[in-house]
Amino acid sequence: MNNKILYIGIILLIISLQACNQSSSESLSKKDAVLSVIHERKSVRNFVKDRPVSKEDIEMLLRAGMAAPSGKNVQAWEFVVIDDRSTLDKMAAELPTAKMLAEAPMAIVVCGDTVRQSYWYLDCAAATENILLAVEASGLGAVWTAAYPYRDRMNTVIKYTELPPQILPLVVIPVGHPMGKHSPKDKYDEKKVHMNKW
Ligand SMILES: Cc1cc2nc3c(=O)[nH]c(=O)nc-3n(C[C@H](O)[C@H](O)[C@H](O)COP(=O)(O)O)c2cc1C
Repeated sequence: MNNKILYIGIILLIISLQACNQSSSESLSKKDAVLSVIHERKSVRNFVKDRPVSKEDIEMLLRAGMAAPSGKNVQAWEFVVIDDRSTLDKMAAELPTAKMLAEAPMAIVVCGDTVRQSYWYLDCAAATENILLAVEASGLGAVWTAAYPYRDRMNTVIKYTELPPQILPLVVIPVGHPMGKHSPKDKYDEKKVHMNKW
């Protein structure tokens, strides 16, 4: 009888050790995967013009954006997806730092509700970075192009997207399949790190 209990105990111990081992190797690979996406992310400004981004990928990017942290969980973001060629071309012509829209098959405009949240741009910046990381993880390319805080650029975006008055555009993200080679920059700088005090 005692031997039977000992035998069952040993089996349970082996099972729980195996489960422990599996979960620590899973979390190690999750860490590696996340860090690799963070460090591989780079701005991509050249795209295969005629290769569209799939509907599934667009939804995946929007879901990633909306998974971002948000002040008081207000989620002050709104997203405008642009895949109309003529709109992309007109915006490229008018936005001085978003000329690559002329090559991109689509763009996501991340906008904020200025009435619901005074610091809407913080929620929207977090959502934008999430989208850029999801872009990197799926082999697509994208770049943050600034609308806010430039009044002229915001007006151009508002004109083409017909945003209501309380909604402002933070960023236009051209997205597509990358053309050519793009490499991440190593920006780590020890001098920017201050321990306890400056
Ligand atoms: C607030 C902000 C505004 C930016 N605006 C533009 C822009 O208007 N046009 C552009 O081509 N890139 C823009 N960028 C992308 C930066 O130029 C780019 O992130 C930087 O050069 C570092 O390169 P990396 O993204 O490859 O690491 C912007 C990035 C940020 C965070």
